[in-house]
Amino acid sequence: MLLKLFTFSLLLRLCLSVPDDFTTLLSFKISADSSSSLPWSSSSYPCSWLGVTCHPTTHRVTKLILNNSNLTGSIQTLTRLTQLRYLSLHHNYLSMIPSFSSWPNLKHLYLSHNGFSGEFPAGLASLHRLVRLDLSYNNFSGQIPLMELAQLPHLVTLLLEFNSFTGTLDSGGLSISPLAEFNVSENALSGKIPDFLVNFTVSSFSGNSRLCGKPLPLDCYNGGFHSKPVAGNDVNGKSRVLGMKKKVRNSIEMMIISVCVVVLISTLVIVTWCCYRFKGKKMKVKNWYNGKYGAVKPKESTVDDQEMVCFEGCRGFDRVDDLLMASAELLGKGSVGSTYKVEIAGGDVVVKRVKLRESISTRAKKRNIAGYLRGNIGGLRNLNVLSLRAFSCSKDELLLVYDFLPNGSLFTLLHGNRGPGRTPLDWSRRLKVALGAAKGLAFLHSRKLVHGNLTSSNIIIDNLGNPCISDIGLSLVLQMPSSLNSPYRAPELVQATHNSQSIKSYTKKCDVYSFGVVLLEILTGKTAWMEGEGNLVNWVEGSMKQEDWKWEVFDFEMLRYKEMEGEMKALLEVALLCLVSSPSQRVEMVLVMKMIDDIKVKDMGSGEFQESISNGTLTSGSSSFSEN
Ligand SMILES: *[C@@H]1O[C@H](CO)[C@@H](O)[C@H](O)[C@H]1NC(C)=O
Ligand SMILES: *[C@@H]1O[C@H](CO)[C@@H](O)[C@H](O)[C@H]1NC(C)=O
Ligand SMILES: *[C@@H]1O[C@H](CO)[C@@H](O)[C@H](O)[C@H]1NC(C)=O
Ligand SMILES: *[C@@H]1O[C@H](CO)[C@@H](O)[C@H](O)[C@H]1NC(C)=O
Ligand SMILES: *[C@@H]1O[C@H](CO)[C@@H](O)[C@H](O)[C@H]1NC(C)=O
Repeated sequence: MLLKLFTFSLLLRLCLSVPDDFTTLLSFKISADSSSSLPWSSSSYPCSWLGVTCHPTTHRVTKLILNNSNLTGSIQTLTRLTQLRYLSLHHNYLSMIPSFSSWPNLKHLYLSHNGFSGEFPAGLASLHRLVRLDLSYNNFSGQIPLMELAQLPHLVTLLLEFNSFTGTLDSGGLSISPLAEFNVSENALSGKIPDFLVNFTVSSFSGNSRLCGKPLPLDCYNGGFHSKPVAGNDVNGKSRVLGMKKKVRNSIEMMIISVCVVVLISTLVIVTWCCYRFKGKKMKVKNWYNGKYGAVKPKESTVDDQEMVCFEGCRGFDRVDDLLMASAELLGKGSVGSTYKVEIAGGDVVVKRVKLRESISTRAKKRNIAGYLRGNIGGLRNLNVLSLRAFSCSKDELLLVYDFLPNGSLFTLLHGNRGPGRTPLDWSRRLKVALGAAKGLAFLHSRKLVHGNLTSSNIIIDNLGNPCISDIGLSLVLQMPSSLNSPYRAPELVQATHNSQSIKSYTKKCDVYSFGVVLLEILTGKTAWMEGEGNLVNWVEGSMKQEDWKWEVFDFEMLRYKEMEGEMKALLEVALLCLVSSPSQRVEMVLVMKMIDDIKVKDMGSGEFQESISNGTLTSGSSSFSEN
């Protein structure tokens, strides 16, 4: 028993000290995968994502293979994956490379066919386990640090062809002993090939016109560019010949330089043009509906049978066609459908495209969906609910139009871009989001509506930091229940058999449970899908069994608000009340809202929170709910 407790706490320590690879992968996806080529869904276990391999016990990412994935930009984020052994990113459009020093365990590194440029990356000395290094087909320049490479005891493969490396292959007399595969062809290297490389074939060195010595046919002292130093003007005849040679060489050099300048300028023009074009393509997609993002229907039929239902008028898009013809940008693909930002004269809107499943393509069921959206959702206007502006329901597809809010979801605010460069989300903003979301959900419940799939991803933050709940009732009316092992799923739903998990079994109390999970995310800064310990709820409950638990549970970004500890504990208590496993014992949303409101107003000191919740708020709160 004692031993078990000990191992458990050890595991917990381990968990806490380990950076969250899940978040790292997600933020890499956000920064590098603007074309959404990686089929990674934040609702599945990250170690099962395509291209990701984890260590079986520590659950850290050890292998990442993302070749041919249209990735762009920097790979700086990936330096947080400190347990990587194998990294393959060939055939992408990546351009910025960090120092190697963050990957002390790396054995295989494949970065060929990208747009990396600049000097050979620093930090080679840390890669003492490196076996294969492939930097070919990039735009690297400067010297090849052969002296440092010679320090790597296991290096077998070194591929550097098709770059712009200059300088010599001087290794300071050292050799890379296990080297079996070597290629520096098509660079701008010069000088003598060192002895330890002479047994590689000519094709390893071709395309470097100033290299000489074995195995190349060019001898280094006769005819090679690296000519023997000649003593000055001792003999008249000799010096005259030398002078003429010099003149010829000067003019050749002049020619080479001017050719280089012309090439450089045209390259610059081409690169600028390419960048410009590429950027343009990424940002805006004309005719998005039928374009490369995979529409299924011919344009003509969409116009005819799709009627647009507008609430409070549709500024600039009274016909479905107006939306479909506008420029759009893919924001994301979720479990229910794809989301686009569409540019309309009356202001940007968000369009959600939901492909209807076979089972609900009948006319009656469609009418049911339209009736629900028209009667229950369309008219909802609340500060904390994202307004549905319009919708249109065709034979096999549903289009939902919302206002565009630039700040993104609570999920990205909490978990996106973790690490250097992130602006931490301060405590008062977190509390504001918690309260606003509670108000929004309580408002829905007061209208006899349930949300059905509340997660941090469908709480959207407006430009004033107010949270707005979106996708209300969507998963229920579309009969797309969240997956069985979703951490947001209330225990009574998990226990229900697969067939009986219908709309009827979903109650307001299920929403309350999901909200409790969102509160834990706000407090811990961790995603609801956690590795190892099962999920966030189990993890928090486990951590609280420890003697001295408090600061291990809370997000380290809030360490600076230690004086607010009382408020944080109070919010944690509220979360735990939402997470009570028996639905009948679980609090109502009205009370949750009242309790969170009280945290803010009272500004309690630490220690008093438990008392105030059990004595005051819980018993007196129910009557004071007011709609806004
Ligand atoms: C990358 O982009 C091209 C062209 O846009 C597309 O054909 C290809 O499927 C994309 N690759 C992946 C892995 O999505
Ligand atoms: C990535 O490369 C490996 C081997 O280099 C190959 O087996 C795999 O199919 C490639 N994946 C993609 C998406 O191209
Ligand atoms: C690399 O440089 C060459 C010319 O030096 C240029 O043609 C090419 O487009 C560059 N590649 C990338 C991916 O930037
Ligand atoms: C190159 O090959 C020759 C003959 O096979 C051998 O004697 C020599 O040791 C080799 N040199 C190196 C550096 O491996
Ligand atoms: C070196 O790379 C070039 C260009 O890809 C290739 O043609 C050549 O066969 C390679 N040489 C060796 C020894 O791999």
